[in-house]
Amino acid sequence: MPSGTEVGLLAARKITRLVGARPDAVLGLATGSSPLAIYAALAAHVREGTLDTSRVSAFALDEYVGIPADHPESYASVIDREVTVPLHLDPERVQVPDGRATDLEAAGRRYEEAIRAAGGVDLQILGIGANGHVGFNEPTSSFASRTRIKTLTERTRADNARFFASPDEVPTHCLTQGLGTIMDARSLLLVAQGSQKAAAVAAAVEGPVTSMCPASILQHHPHATVMVDEAAAADL
Ligand code: GLP
Repeated sequence: MPSGTEVGLLAARKITRLVGARPDAVLGLATGSSPLAIYAALAAHVREGTLDTSRVSAFALDEYVGIPADHPESYASVIDREVTVPLHLDPERVQVPDGRATDLEAAGRRYEEAIRAAGGVDLQILGIGANGHVGFNEPTSSFASRTRIKTLTERTRADNARFFASPDEVPTHCLTQGLGTIMDARSLLLVAQGSQKAAAVAAAVEGPVTSMCPASILQHHPHATVMVDEAAAADL
């Protein structure tokens, strides 16, 4: 597949088909740069009138702990800016883990309950970290994990520093859906672009299923699709 834009177009087509067949679909949203081409292509479908999102619900994968919800790089802000507004989603139907909760364990349990109450996720969009993380499930995360507080690795904090004014500003903790939560989605769609993801993509798709590469658990999902550009496919 030649380019990241094309990955976005193809992935968006799959999602638009799903929502066409199931107008009240529940989507799982990922942040990071990887899915942005999908959201741009979906927004185009909405503008063209080929995608009606009025009954769609969505759950984000994760959120930083310790930054205000209205900080431009909180995932609540990113999802609002990149997804809810351009895709005309009903904000009442879009949820992001509450990284500002005083009781984060309870916030994790509430999030799990909200996903269950919505009937579960039909299609979960995923990016992949250079260390194989999905959501913020860093290497060694349990395959059975549910939404919970996690410490970000130095690698992930360094990778995400580009979104902040200084590296010190990158939060140290997050609230993330667990690998068990992610694996409960009825289908998974992992997207990756660029050579910096090639090793992680190869480990996830062709390596052993190991918690050292959290994305490798996708090999056990009955409906997982991986869409990558040429550069991210280089090690396959
Ligand atoms: C971020 C997010 C992940 C994302 C990954 C890759 O930290 N928490 O959900 O998939 O890291 O990010 P990017 O797509 O910007 O490379």
